[in-house]
This record gives sequence, C-alpha cells and structure tokens, in this order.
Amino acid sequence: MGGQGDAHDDHAGVPSGTRALIVTISDGVAAGTRADEAGPALSARLVGHGFAVDRAAVPDERARIEAALTVGVADHALVITTGGTGLTPRDVTPQATLAVIDYEVPGLAEAIRAFGRAHTPMADLSRGVVGVLKGTLIVNVPGSPRAALECLEALEPTLQHALETLSGPFDHGAAGAGHEARPDLPDPELSK
Ligand code: MTE
Repeated sequence: MGGQGDAHDDHAGVPSGTRALIVTISDGVAAGTRADEAGPALSARLVGHGFAVDRAAVPDERARIEAALTVGVADHALVITTGGTGLTPRDVTPQATLAVIDYEVPGLAEAIRAFGRAHTPMADLSRGVVGVLKGTLIVNVPGSPRAALECLEALEPTLQHALETLSGPFDHGAAGAGHEARPDLPDPELSK
C-alpha cells in the first residue's frame, strides 16, 4: 500500500494505529460452531499495514449486521465485513450495508470485482458493496479467506487516499496527495 512491491509490511500508507473493524458475518462463526478464518487473515494483513484492528462476529441477519455497522463506524476509520455477499437467501450483507450507508463508492466495488475476476470468474458472484457512513469506509468482502484477502489486495492501492479524504479537509493539490505534477497541463494558478 502506498507504493510498489510487497505491501505487507509497508506502514507508509495509513497513519500507524488507524482503527479498523473486521466484522465476520456467519451464522456458524457467531454461534461458535465454526472457526473464523477470514477474520484473522484480514486482521493480520491490516495489522501489517499499521492498522489497529478490532474484530466482531454476527449472524447472517440484517438487523444484527446493520447494528454492527452503525455502532462500528463510531470509532473506526475502516470497517470490513466478510461473508454474506453471495446469492443465497441468507446472504444479506449488501442489503444491510446499503440500508445504513450515506453513499456508495461504486468504483471501489468495481475494482474489487475486476481484480477478483483475474483470479476466478466466480468473483462476479459476490454482491459486495463499498460505501461511507459518517466518514467511515465500509467494505463488503466474501467469506472465504482467500477471496477476502484478494479483495483487500484490490483495495490497497486506493485505501490510503480514500481514508485520507474521508478523515477531514483534504487538499488534492497538496504534495503527497498521490498525484504527480503535470507539466504538460496549464498551471491552474495562471488562469485565476
Ligand atoms: N472473489 C474473489 N476475489 N475470489 C473468490 O474466490 N469467490 C466468489 C465470490 N467472490 C471469490 C470472490 C464466490 S464462489 C462467492 S459464492 C461469492 O464471492 C460470495 O461469497 P460469500 O457468500 O462468502 O460472501
């Protein structure tokens, strides 16, 4: 994140200690009858990027997911849900997310599916959405640990800038805004 090459131990992206919440959405995990694999996998990767990670598990129930999201955004800059994005009647994570967010970030959901498609055509079977609630970025990824990590990887080139723009006033013209100077374009100062 924030550069080329292996991003696992690159803390340069988000400020160290940026708080993230991973919500595993699974009837079995919430009931304690099934081990959570995706939650720890996502957590390890985010910790490697400098995030301070909390985790929670809720069943595949809309009201419970909506509550976890609305409470979770209060003290986390990033909330990643894992699971419940598929096509079965119990897969309600996208519906719950759409019900609570202030607005969608469709480009990030598109990027996640496009990246996944390079690995498997099954990526199209995730209905995961990305959106913003009260300044927190919410990202739905699938439940399998491999798929979840692929989706996080797809997000990494843009995650730092997305969180920066959400965290407060942000000058897109400032140094470090992720843009190179464009000497080929007219200087915007000259046209003022
Ligand atoms: N996305 C990626 N990148 N890699 C995958 O292997 N699996 C798909 C899809 N998205 C997959 C993926 C499959 S098989 C399903 S059923 C859906 O995610 C939904 O998964 P979920 O119901 O666990 O959320």
